[in-house]
Amino acid sequence: MAEVVLQGVSKAYAGRPTVHAVDLTIADKEFMVLVGPSGCGKSTTLRMVAGLEDITAGRLLIDGADVTHAAPQKRDIAMVFQSYALYPHMTAFRNMAFGLLKTTDLGKAEVDRRIREAAEILHIGHLLERKPNQLSGGERQRVAIGRALVRQPKVFLFDEPLSNLDAKLRTRMRGELKRLHKELGLTVIYVTHDQIEAMTLGTRVAILSEGRLQQVGAPMELYMHPANTFVATFIGTPEMSLLRCAVRPEGNGSLLQHERFLTALPARPDAAEVFLGVRPEEILISQSAEGITRGIVERTELIGSEALAEILIGRDRVVARMPISEAPESGEEVSLTFDFGRARLFDATNGRALTSI
Ligand SMILES: Nc1ncnc2c1ncn2[C@@H]1O[C@H](COP(=O)(O)OP(=O)(O)O)[C@@H](O)[C@H]1O
Ligand SMILES: [Mg+2]
Repeated sequence: MAEVVLQGVSKAYAGRPTVHAVDLTIADKEFMVLVGPSGCGKSTTLRMVAGLEDITAGRLLIDGADVTHAAPQKRDIAMVFQSYALYPHMTAFRNMAFGLLKTTDLGKAEVDRRIREAAEILHIGHLLERKPNQLSGGERQRVAIGRALVRQPKVFLFDEPLSNLDAKLRTRMRGELKRLHKELGLTVIYVTHDQIEAMTLGTRVAILSEGRLQQVGAPMELYMHPANTFVATFIGTPEMSLLRCAVRPEGNGSLLQHERFLTALPARPDAAEVFLGVRPEEILISQSAEGITRGIVERTELIGSEALAEILIGRDRVVARMPISEAPESGEEVSLTFDFGRARLFDATNGRALTSI
């Protein structure tokens, strides 16, 4: 069992608040991804879990035991860093053995057995006698992961472990990490700034902005039901477009008034000023039929079998996605509408999602 609970965990560096009262529970065998822009406090949070950074306020529990102030060695946690942090003068084998021999009383035979086993899982059995400078980036990363595996810790912490790898290798290692997690039943907290990595790896994803937790949920839940405009625009490529509208009560419903269109809503959102949030696939360009508004195509871009078009609707810029055959020309004026069944509204004053459209 390995359950990690952060209760109001906060960090201040020299009195400057950096991580604000994070409440987060990572269940046994869960793959939790902590994602957010650079500088939002991901590494700081992970390092507090590892015990490499003091916790300024709040509590940290591992399997119910309070380890807020416990030394790193007492937490039964292993961490894999972006930089790999391998000893350059030691072979891959020694790198994996070193910590085990130093911090446990395992016999040489058991250490050897664990390393062979991890090496097999990670397909690095033939590399064990090489030193880091004789290994590629991907191979070094595997050795660093192997070093964590052989410790058989309760919890694995990863801090941007794939950031130094090229795109192809990154995709492959992502698949491998997913497999390891599943096959070995690992409990993982994984930090990345890459929302695609987060969405593909996490059983749940926690989104952090400026040291504050914004939303925690399964990837699809975050995509379909973002709690606020930060999450809405952070998750998804290209990002969700936001159109500023005023809301006017009308009958049982309301009217949504944009600078360039007016449309009726069946619901009555509890805000006077809102953002209508539409994803690229929810913007429909109608060549023949009339849409609810018109826009000027600023730019189109071909991406494989699809095209993206940046369209100016009054002062708002939206990005639409369509099959290449339906892509409009730059400079063209198009008629368009939105898939209101899937679009969502946010309170313009605080960015919070409004319950229904
Ligand atoms: N040791 C430190 N002393 C002072 N400020 C720090 C220290 N470490 C990180 N910070 C600051 O805390 C903020 C969060 O950093 P970090 O957790 O590394 O962000 P992330 O990993 O999300 O990119 C940043 O503004 C960073 O400059
Ligand atoms: Mg970091």
